[in-house]
Amino acid sequence: MVQINRGNSFEPPPPVRRIPIIAGNWKMNKTVEEALSLIDEMMDDLDAYEEVETVICPPFMALSPVMDLIEDTNLKLGAQNMFYKESGAYTGEISPLMLREVCDYVILGHSERRQYFHETDEDVNLKVRAALKNDLVPIIAVGENLEQREAGRTAELIANQVEIALREVNSFDAATVVIAYEPIWAIGTGKAASGQIANEVCQGIRQTVARLYNQEVASQVRIQYGGSVTGDNIAEFMSQPDIDGALVGGASLKAADFVKIVAQTQEAVGKKG
Ligand code: PGA
Repeated sequence: MVQINRGNSFEPPPPVRRIPIIAGNWKMNKTVEEALSLIDEMMDDLDAYEEVETVICPPFMALSPVMDLIEDTNLKLGAQNMFYKESGAYTGEISPLMLREVCDYVILGHSERRQYFHETDEDVNLKVRAALKNDLVPIIAVGENLEQREAGRTAELIANQVEIALREVNSFDAATVVIAYEPIWAIGTGKAASGQIANEVCQGIRQTVARLYNQEVASQVRIQYGGSVTGDNIAEFMSQPDIDGALVGGASLKAADFVKIVAQTQEAVGKKG
């Protein structure tokens, strides 16, 4: 970064402006027909909020048709999972080569994948590296469960998840990833974390990235909060210095709610220092 020399004093570099990112994780909901009708309902409204990067993550079946529908908008597309091999005898799996034809993003390591499909931190790391190799931006989900939080293990656990997920990822790639902090106790429960608690963990994630790489990479990485985000609480999260957006489940399935989240996010842009 170029520094302007005014006399003997150096102007500090301006803070990196991270573009806010809202991703709608539809999970295993919506047939292709339903997906197209939901997109149709909210597409124009979402497209109007140009300062927010809005990513729709429908089920695999709907990716291609949704891609066609949003072609002329600012909306981006993401998948909810991916296998780390590019091709081969892996019945039922989807490869990064297939996804890169249709989407820009892929959610990796969601707690539901970890819980129901036994994905480990090491699996997540393999997937993160495969995604980056294929020009897909991973949205890496991390989070603690209630027992772990109550045992005071949150910071250590999240740092460990982030560290393993980013193993062997170079600093150039690391700066491009999105990390989603999703406390498991807040997912689908209607009990979102407070802005302050969420920011504490997101700040810890940024510090972990700084420790693994450097301050510059840490200041570029975008960190989302996820877990019962709504149009009514998004402003609280977006007002936090280390929260750059949200990974939204339930509320992304209702056009009015999702549009409100994106609208509130755009409103929060510029209010941050
Ligand atoms: P929720 O889900 O918004 O319904 O809590 C978030 C997620 O699982 O990504």
